[in-house]
Amino acid sequence: MGTTNRQLTAKYNGDEETKRQFLYIEKAKDYVQALSNELGRKPTCCVTTFGCQMNARDSEKLAGILELTGYELIEDEDADFVIYNTCTVRDNANQRVYGRLGHLNSLKKKNPHKKIALCGCMMQEASVIEKLQKSYRFVDLIFGTHNIYKFAELLVSMYESDSMVIDIWEDTDQIVEDLPIERKYSFKSGINIMFGCNNFCSYCIVPYVRGRERSRNPKDIIKEIEELVSDGVVEVMLLGQNVNSYGKNLMEPITFAQLLREIERIEGLQRIRFMTSHPKDLSDELIQVMKESKKICRHLHLPLQSGSTRILKEMNRKYTKEQYLALAEKIRKEIPDIALTTDIIVGFPGETPEDVEETIDVINKVQYENAFTFIYSKRTGTPAASMENQVPEELVKKGFDKVLKTVQDTARMRVALLEGQTLDALVEEINEQDSSLLTGRLSNNTIVHFKGSHDLIGQIVPVYLKECHGFYYLGELQK
Ligand code: SAH
Ligand code: SF4
Ligand code: F3S
Repeated sequence: MGTTNRQLTAKYNGDEETKRQFLYIEKAKDYVQALSNELGRKPTCCVTTFGCQMNARDSEKLAGILELTGYELIEDEDADFVIYNTCTVRDNANQRVYGRLGHLNSLKKKNPHKKIALCGCMMQEASVIEKLQKSYRFVDLIFGTHNIYKFAELLVSMYESDSMVIDIWEDTDQIVEDLPIERKYSFKSGINIMFGCNNFCSYCIVPYVRGRERSRNPKDIIKEIEELVSDGVVEVMLLGQNVNSYGKNLMEPITFAQLLREIERIEGLQRIRFMTSHPKDLSDELIQVMKESKKICRHLHLPLQSGSTRILKEMNRKYTKEQYLALAEKIRKEIPDIALTTDIIVGFPGETPEDVEETIDVINKVQYENAFTFIYSKRTGTPAASMENQVPEELVKKGFDKVLKTVQDTARMRVALLEGQTLDALVEEINEQDSSLLTGRLSNNTIVHFKGSHDLIGQIVPVYLKECHGFYYLGELQK
């Protein structure tokens, strides 16, 4: 049972809702103190993330509040308070939560003080809440994605109630700034630049569970990054479901490329990343800004989903195979050292082996540095779920294996092209398997392992890329 090495930032700027929540933090402190007196030690808590980077960032917000109320953060579900921040993008994410809840219940039977909370995207589905109410009565607190900023208030409700507390909102237009955040890494951080999604790709549940697209004010984003930088952060990852449509609905509209230009000016910040870019509205302005930038990393995640124009239309992706290929080609030409990565879905309703061949054709042409391949998962309430021609499992499996093999073969060749170069890596951690090695990340997102002293963590150092091992490198630190 180890404590985690995290960084706490808590600044309060006077916003009304933030003020209310800080009052609840004070109130929650009393409950945690009482528990502490009873236990004769500091109570422990554990935050488990099931989803994407946005989900992980939310977990840092939860951790920040728990720590301020007096909990000690640990990475062990034996803790006195366990919260699952769930994901529902594919069914297997849901199944993992149900599976692990059974285990939490057995731990709770041994620890009468134990509290269990669930939040995140899966909680925005009515069918999930019904199931939890019926068969998982031992859960103490349930809330969703729109009211996470109320976590302190919800904690207080939980302490004051004998039964399950449930608070789920359909949607929100609120963006509450400046609550405490407990960062996982001291030197890099995710930053939300927008919330929600308006794209409604026909297979995807995210717009239903994360609500409509809302961009944060550029001033608030810049301020948050400046504070992070003064707190030791050198790399930021700007987060949004589709960063390319950032700013369109603000009172004073601004493009994502303009926002990047402003962030570039922040002194002390060394690296800028962002996720995710929808191909349909990736602008020439963005390519230009990336090309000219000294700080924006040489990596673009550009989800393809399918290489078949017919399937793309059914998916409501709003681009064709040819448009995607032309875009990828333009980016590779303008920024030759960029790495392109992607997401691919196999088995969307109506997909034929010929459609899969189209996807494989795109992979061969673009030669991604890496690609995440997913088997289509039917999400209740999405248009694709009610399409009649769902693809039989064996056929999906065949297509999936073929796509995966193409991805692996092309990526291996592509990543190997860096062999022999010396490039800057941000040292992120001690290698999990071999503690004499450090693990660093290149600007283009490739991982490199090399020997070096542990105090280099958080620094950007030159590394000679000696041997390529598929997706990663073994390297040597250069003096
Ligand atoms: N906003 C991002 C994606 C967020 S979800 C974007 O548009 O790129 C991350 C990935 O999960 C998606 O890119 C897609 O490949 C995959 N995904 C989403 N819904 C899915 C489903 N129903 N079945 C399988 N994969 C899915
Ligand atoms: Fe889902 Fe599409 Fe929105 Fe991405 S852009 S979150 S895939 S609906
Ligand atoms: Fe999952 Fe929600 Fe992210 S559904 S992928 S955690 S936005």
